[in-house]
Amino acid sequence: MQNQKIVIEGGVPLRGDIKIQGAKNSSLPIIAASLLCEGETVIKNCPRISDTYASCRILSHLGCRCNLSGNVLTVSADKKSSCSVSDELMSEMRSSIIYMGALLGSSGECCMTFPGGCELGPRPIDMHIDAMKKLGARVKDEYGIIECSAPHGLKGTKIILSYPSVGTTENIMLAAVKAEGETVISNAAMEPEITDLAEFLNKCGGRIKGAGTGKIVIDGVKKLYGCTYTVMPDRIAAATYISAAAATNGEINILGIDGLLCDSFISVFEQMGCYIYIYDDRVYVNAERPLRSVGKIITMPHPGFPTDAQAVIMAALCKARGSSIFVENIFESRYKQVDALVKMGANIKVSGKTAVVTGVKRLYGSKVSATDLRGGASMIVAGLGADGKTEISDIYHIDRGYENIENIISSLGGKIKRI
Ligand code: EPZ
Repeated sequence: MQNQKIVIEGGVPLRGDIKIQGAKNSSLPIIAASLLCEGETVIKNCPRISDTYASCRILSHLGCRCNLSGNVLTVSADKKSSCSVSDELMSEMRSSIIYMGALLGSSGECCMTFPGGCELGPRPIDMHIDAMKKLGARVKDEYGIIECSAPHGLKGTKIILSYPSVGTTENIMLAAVKAEGETVISNAAMEPEITDLAEFLNKCGGRIKGAGTGKIVIDGVKKLYGCTYTVMPDRIAAATYISAAAATNGEINILGIDGLLCDSFISVFEQMGCYIYIYDDRVYVNAERPLRSVGKIITMPHPGFPTDAQAVIMAALCKARGSSIFVENIFESRYKQVDALVKMGANIKVSGKTAVVTGVKRLYGSKVSATDLRGGASMIVAGLGADGKTEISDIYHIDRGYENIENIISSLGGKIKRI
């Protein structure tokens, strides 16, 4: 709901065990991919977040049967009756661009509005459109409406991405998995969520090799059949809870995640002075020592440091001894959380892509508004480590990607509630 708030009394070290949610950035493309399948698809470990609910609304709008019970989403696309995603649905969720590849791959046509920018700045889709054209789709893009059609079907081809775009890589996989012939994606995104999507599609009968590397080879098949699949754990949610443990000098266990999934950011927490032990099913964090600043944190495509972890780690570093430097290379305006952190007493200087965080002794609880999904989460992290009360409004941004965040933090002893 739009007028809900999160209220935090800071200063309590977080302690205990939590079970991590399913990965938002894997479940969203997998839900879209269910459009390509005959019969029933059962998606387990699906996070109960508003982006999942928005995905269900899109699938229902397209005529699919969609049922979410607990963390299990069951989809049947056999009665799919439409190929157009309304403006209102497109604007609800920035990542709905993924339905371009899913609809072209399943019905050979799609109509959608230009997914508006979001809090992170303009979100161009030039690479998506260019890739669909290379696969043989005709794309008409005017007055904010995008109409794609492939009357003669999609044909596999070689696509070299100028930038390893996650969404573009996923859209190509969805459009090409049932195209005629072979598609090769060079300079493909290598995020673990790409591998999860490929594993889902292969379990449905697809033939995709090389996911997780820069070269993905897709051998088109005629049909895909719905299957039961468990979504991978959310490594960015894990980075968020580790940041909260660090900001409160606490000690937590994150269950249900292979520590290797966190290897693109674990070293940053170790440089901060956290003891981190990774196992194949959990991550142990002990942040009881005072935090110290880290050198440069430069966001890069995987396996580099993930842009989605930048804001929450920045919040943890606000009280670390010394200065840390962030360089944000992926999105144009991903420092929206800085104003709120400065209002809480942080010392952060932003110039273009660079943000310099100089540790201060303490942060002070304040009234702040969430600016975007990860920025909002960073305010929770900062509030947990601040003295006094923090009140965060516009928490619908946070609910887009975090399942039950206040209950999870309460279970670790944090004083947090939703009002
Ligand atoms: C995915 O976004 C994630 N979203 C983002 O997570 C994540 O930050 C991003 O990948 C990078 O890892 C989902 O998976 C739903 P990109 P996506 O295409 O696919 C530019 C979160 O907080 N670009 O790799 O949009 C684009 O503007 C969200 O969970 C073009 O210029 O990321 C951006 O600057 C935020 N033209 C850069 O590439 C295009 O056609 C990275 O975009 C496409 C992208």
